[in-house]
Amino acid sequence: MPDTRITLTERELPRQWYNILADSPKPPAPVLHPVTMQPIGPDDLAPLFPMALIMQEVSTERWIDIPDEVRDVYKLWRPTPLHRALRLEKYLQTPAHIYYKYEGVSPVGSHKPNTAVAQAYYNKQEGVRRLATETGAGQWGSALAMACRMFDLECTVYMVKVSYQQKPYRRLLMETYGATVHASPSMETRAGQKVLAAKPDSPGSLGIAISEAVEDAATHDDTKYSLGSVLNHVLLHQTVIGQEAKAQLEKADDYPDVVIGSCGGGSNLAGLSYPFLADKLSGQRPNLRVVAVEPAACPTLTRGKYLYDFGDTVGLTPLVKMYTLGHTFVPAGIHAGGLRYHGDAPSLCLLYDEKIVEAVAYHQNPVFQAAVAFAQTEGIVAAPESAHAIKAAIDEALLAREEGKKKVILFNLSGHGNFDLQAYDDYLRGKLVDTEYSTAEVEQALAGLRQP
Ligand SMILES: Cc1ncc(COP(=O)(O)O)c(C=O)c1O
Repeated sequence: MPDTRITLTERELPRQWYNILADSPKPPAPVLHPVTMQPIGPDDLAPLFPMALIMQEVSTERWIDIPDEVRDVYKLWRPTPLHRALRLEKYLQTPAHIYYKYEGVSPVGSHKPNTAVAQAYYNKQEGVRRLATETGAGQWGSALAMACRMFDLECTVYMVKVSYQQKPYRRLLMETYGATVHASPSMETRAGQKVLAAKPDSPGSLGIAISEAVEDAATHDDTKYSLGSVLNHVLLHQTVIGQEAKAQLEKADDYPDVVIGSCGGGSNLAGLSYPFLADKLSGQRPNLRVVAVEPAACPTLTRGKYLYDFGDTVGLTPLVKMYTLGHTFVPAGIHAGGLRYHGDAPSLCLLYDEKIVEAVAYHQNPVFQAAVAFAQTEGIVAAPESAHAIKAAIDEALLAREEGKKKVILFNLSGHGNFDLQAYDDYLRGKLVDTEYSTAEVEQALAGLRQP
């Protein structure tokens, strides 16, 4: 029998992060100043980020050393296990091998601390006192709240209102680590006030919460901003996941045909897939497939346009070239709060545009149906975001059954859903609505975008 859990020792924890920009088929499009529309330099970002992270953001070095202080915190839960989903395979009667990298074993239950810890460390090194951030479902906020506590920083979190209401336990977790949490849009910032004036009952969105956190950081000298996805340095930090998975699959004597991850901003997918994509880009594994899984209510890659857009709703951030639904688009309040973002990481968008990465979009009900099958076979209740990856993995496994092919499927189980049981309750009681995104709203959100 093959092993169910493939583990690594602490000594096998990666010592470097992998930077895909060194191997990208094209150089990334320049990031532009929101007013002048000219390429920005490191100094333009200095009010928001510490210089070490800005340098990582623009680096094209293939490998970047992980500081010992960061590795020491990683050791609290890393290396994470790689599971062979033998029970799910049997249930699906598939010849496929299904593996999942389980990031839900981190103290806060997701992959997010891989970058939160690194970001808190570099900010502390440069004398920052407080970090401000946004959170969707609360996974990122809890990760940063924990990381800030570990490096003795204060933490303010703007939590998307619909999630703040749906997930009170995530808020309590953040507060347990000592963070201050505001429901966004809030009256704490001018950005929040502006949104509330136009729409008092706004459910909030990641774009709005980012505007609030960016404004907070930009208007306080001792405070910097921290982002949980999308940026190059965030994706970089997440590559510990894929490097470990590669070593684990080598032990199992397998290599994936397809690597799958849910896609909110792109960080868990990139973290798992980029170290494997290095083999595709070098020509060693030309047939490797990578699949981004989106919610049908916010189908950024599958239905968005490849344009310059703001990272936030109000238009405070620099302009980045990405697939976008428009920064003013507010997706329906689906339970996968972490997937309700109008854009995606520029490096991932470039790879998608070059047809190196694929994307699919699913509605909530089939996603939760897959998540329940997974819970009943593998035992783990997945985060609603991660459930999107489960759905795609099951579809790939069923296709392998139809085709009678052995196929190796690897997906990122990016987090557990122990705080998301309300979502499961809604699904089990038939209360989940499969909201389609509105083409008219997207068209309107994209219409006003200025391009260089
Ligand atoms: C568990 C989990 N998975 C996935 C995501 C999506 O984000 P990303 O695409 O950056 O991994 C989130 C975001 O909050 C999350 O909490």
